[in-house]
Amino acid sequence: MLNWDEYNKEETQVAPSIQNTATEAPKHAESIAKPEPVSEVAPIAVEAGSRAEAARKAMETFDASEGVKELDEMHNGRVQVDDKAMINCKADLNQLVPFKYDWAWQKYLDGSANHWMPQEVNMTADIALWKSEDGLTEDERTIVKRNLGFFSTADSLVANNLVLALYRLVTNPECRQYILRQSLEEAIHTHAYQYCIESLGMDEGEIFNMYREIPSVAKKAAWGLKYTQQISDPTFQTGTTETDKQLLRNLIAFYCVLEGIFFYCGFTQILSMGRRNKMTGTAEQFQYILRDESMHVNFGIDVINQIKIENPHLWDEEMKNEAAQMILEGTELEIQYARDTMPRGVLGMNASMMEEYLQFIANRRLTQIGLEEEFKGATNPFPWMSEIMDLRKEKNFFETRVIEYQTGGALNWE
Ligand SMILES: [Fe+2]
Ligand SMILES: [Fe+2]
Repeated sequence: MLNWDEYNKEETQVAPSIQNTATEAPKHAESIAKPEPVSEVAPIAVEAGSRAEAARKAMETFDASEGVKELDEMHNGRVQVDDKAMINCKADLNQLVPFKYDWAWQKYLDGSANHWMPQEVNMTADIALWKSEDGLTEDERTIVKRNLGFFSTADSLVANNLVLALYRLVTNPECRQYILRQSLEEAIHTHAYQYCIESLGMDEGEIFNMYREIPSVAKKAAWGLKYTQQISDPTFQTGTTETDKQLLRNLIAFYCVLEGIFFYCGFTQILSMGRRNKMTGTAEQFQYILRDESMHVNFGIDVINQIKIENPHLWDEEMKNEAAQMILEGTELEIQYARDTMPRGVLGMNASMMEEYLQFIANRRLTQIGLEEEFKGATNPFPWMSEIMDLRKEKNFFETRVIEYQTGGALNWE
């Protein structure tokens, strides 16, 4: 953590690094006990005719009442909890409190407590394994490349959808606060994939173009993009049943399908590799990402359900059928991706097992937004994946993360 002493030092002083922070703390305590005298500084005189003088004069006559009046007319003054709404809200969005959706603020806090950076993960073993002739089988190499190919651009699609479409249309400040946090996390994810690709010395052009050139990857990207196009148009507005439904479709496409289904085959494959002590650095990056992603999905599902509560007319039979169809289309594309990336059994799994896993995940996404299960009796062939995402473990993760951050300890693959 930075302390205020840092701002009193010479400008040339570099901000403390993560490792330094622990040792800086006692100094801070000392400075509170014995405050140093503040030296008198003579400001530079503002010259007549200078830009500084023009700015000073302009601010002497600046009248804030016009802007304040406009804000009052638009938003009706101080915000009360009941003024707040998930979409089409007229209350002032610059007033974060009072909170209406505590869960959104809590997710913002939890996400922030979970902060990590890709460079903290040691990639040395991965580089040696990737470069060795017989370290990985061809099927394992395909899995690593395909997944870095899909994810390196998928997180950009998600980030673009957040900042160019959703942020404007979700009219609640605590949810926007989480969307900003999520946007940063998506940038960190794209960074993590780029970091893996660079560390392993892969052909960047090949990897970053898979979302256009490899059919099983391109289909998933194109399916997601279809739902961004209309609502990312700057002239698009919600406020009618049809446009509100369009926003709801986008939320279902991105949170339930893209982040909620399209990530699951790849995550399972890479984490399975890590459990077998292969590509452990890459797998560690994916594990941190998966923990972020499970919170993204939970946030999106809360937003969808809240919109349904506040706007029950949107959730008619037609919309329910459409939502179910979208989730099932996504499941189908992910099954195709599983078959493409696993033509044979690999890493103790195969495409049929993945198909059942995806049916299990699809059931979960359907029921999370109040729809019926489609694949009755589907079970989870990879219970260890649920362990990784388990909420209680996430809590542990957040707590232990602080220690790992300081010691650089690695994740345990048991
Ligand atoms: Fe992400
Ligand atoms: Fe995400």
